Amino acid sequence: MTNKIKTAILISGKGSNMKALIQACQNQNIPAQIDLVIANKSQALGLIFARECGIKTAIIEHQKFSSRQLFDQEIDKVLRENNIELVCLAGFMRVLGADFVKKWSHRLINIHPSLLPDFKGANAIVDALNAKAKITGCTTHFVNEFVDSGEIILQQQVIIEDDDNFEKLSQKIHQLEHKIYPQTLKIVCEKLLKNNIK
Ligand code: GRF
Repeated sequence: MTNKIKTAILISGKGSNMKALIQACQNQNIPAQIDLVIANKSQALGLIFARECGIKTAIIEHQKFSSRQLFDQEIDKVLRENNIELVCLAGFMRVLGADFVKKWSHRLINIHPSLLPDFKGANAIVDALNAKAKITGCTTHFVNEFVDSGEIILQQQVIIEDDDNFEKLSQKIHQLEHKIYPQTLKIVCEKLLKNNIK
């Protein structure tokens, strides 16, 4: 068996990007093995698909921790207990603190529904519509200590049509996200293996 990067996905909700990553690892030549899915919400829908795929899941609810740091430490602990080497954020709606981000430097990636650096933050699609932008898109990037600011890995443009509303635009962006996130995973894992930093 070829060497694979042991990968975890962190979610908060639907998990359609998580699903795209899992399916791509099953069907495409990506040197990643999705070993763990962590959700910060027990009702995160993506947990159901992950379990159906036989992937180990963990629920770490942020409300149960008295500080952001303690929450981050628990996530770090569970990742390390599972020998995880790479973490993909996929609709994970909690900001991870600087200590965590530094520990996982260049091993922590995210997908964001805009062409960064435009429209950072939790409402990127609404913000693009409100700004009457003609073009938006999606971006994968390494995570650093500043929100939606780390080194960009891949981007894909989406044209905003005059009759696009939130649902239509979200759907168009999601379709492309489901392509670029698996491509990103492949690029990052191949680089980790090539540089022998497994
Ligand atoms: C995606 O649009 C992603 O860019 C953003 O959160 C959304 C998650 O969607 N970070 P899903 O849960 O993967 O369907």
